[in-house]
Amino acid sequence: MSKQEQGIILSENLAVNLKQAIDRCPHDKLFILTDEHTSRLCTPRLWKIGYLSGMKEFVIGAGDTHKTLDTLASIWTWLSNSGATRHSLLLNLGGGMVTDLGGFAAATFKRGFPYINIPTTLLAMVDASVGGKTGINFNGLKNEIGVFAPASSVLIDVRFLSSLDHHNLLSGYAEMLKHGLISTESHWAELLRFDPKQVDYDRLHEWIGKSVQVKKAIVEQDPFEHGIRKALNLGHTVGHAFESLALKENRPVLHGYAVAWGLVCELYLSHIQTGFPVNKMMQTIRFIKENYGTFDMNCQHYETLYEFMLHDKKNAAGTINFTLLEDVGRISINQTTDRETLYGMFDFYRDCISM
Ligand code: GLY
Repeated sequence: MSKQEQGIILSENLAVNLKQAIDRCPHDKLFILTDEHTSRLCTPRLWKIGYLSGMKEFVIGAGDTHKTLDTLASIWTWLSNSGATRHSLLLNLGGGMVTDLGGFAAATFKRGFPYINIPTTLLAMVDASVGGKTGINFNGLKNEIGVFAPASSVLIDVRFLSSLDHHNLLSGYAEMLKHGLISTESHWAELLRFDPKQVDYDRLHEWIGKSVQVKKAIVEQDPFEHGIRKALNLGHTVGHAFESLALKENRPVLHGYAVAWGLVCELYLSHIQTGFPVNKMMQTIRFIKENYGTFDMNCQHYETLYEFMLHDKKNAAGTINFTLLEDVGRISINQTTDRETLYGMFDFYRDCISM
């Protein structure tokens, strides 16, 4: 794969757009993968589409705990028993778990056949389903095994969001905020006007379109994350450490919440290391504080958080790799810092977000 060739469709008419996406992939058999939530809440919309009647559906358990080798093997077994070939086509209908796992299953079965993503959560629409990262968790590590294998098409239909709860909507929105920060001042500024208590779905539809274009443009330049794709890691170095700490202490948090709190920390680091303007940092932090609350931690957690960051798979040779910003849209990848600065960053986080 030299370049990502993903058709991303912001769908106004799922039946028509799905037909176009399916027609792009001549196939012998069509399969659909869902999880127990999307099968109940979202698949009925597909069954209303005449040409999909009789399609074979496989339903896996919902949630990240099912993103395993066992589930993957069960998908391979189902494909095999159902006579899938290298010329088959898989539709993944669900959140990031389904699109990551289904993408990996399709990319590896008989050395790979095409798949289409129909993301049903905001996180999957603006991030997971776009860009070709597929895989499973392994050995206690998230997304440890996988391949880069882009979906042939990604169909985004915001009507699926009507069944999404408030917290999961905000979780996906954190990735949109990240895309705002790494793109343009006007997109970043409009995103800060979002009111999650009174969601304007038309506006959200428009911003999702912009958000996906930000990610698509970056992935097209650097599909395998050798350079500029690292921009998409903004907020994630600290965010993943928060997520891991929360998991370790049996108080799991949604990915996007951890990313939002990670953005607070990494904007501070951007301010002191690469000159990110303080007023834009504070505007963004205010939005995050109001909508995402705070992650409860004290100075006894610093060491553990530091260790988590040190062992992040994005690092090379014992240094912690950060993506920082000089300003909105001015990205500085491959930044490092020292332990003292990071502890100062955690002090800042606790001071400003818990006030
Ligand atoms: N989620 C970040 C990326 O796709 O690179």
